Amino acid sequence: MVVKICMGSSCHLKGSYKVVQKLKELQKELPELQLVGSLCFGNCMNGINIEIDGEIFSDIKAENVVETVKNYIKKRDEVNG
Ligand code: FES
Repeated sequence: MVVKICMGSSCHLKGSYKVVQKLKELQKELPELQLVGSLCFGNCMNGINIEIDGEIFSDIKAENVVETVKNYIKKRDEVNG
């Protein structure tokens, strides 16, 4: 599973590094998690933006990123049975 985190200046100012810290902690629990930095997603107004396996998630914060990734996994696993 690949999570791309926007490293553009707007998302950076909103605290994308804190989101990265949270995701690094989550990696200990979920070794399948790969973190990749990305240039601006072109959606700064709704940042912080991340992309999980090609799906964009907006309004991400340190407070909701772990929940967002876990919800994504739950939905993915439901769909795939
Ligand atoms: S800086 Fe993140 S979408 Fe533009």
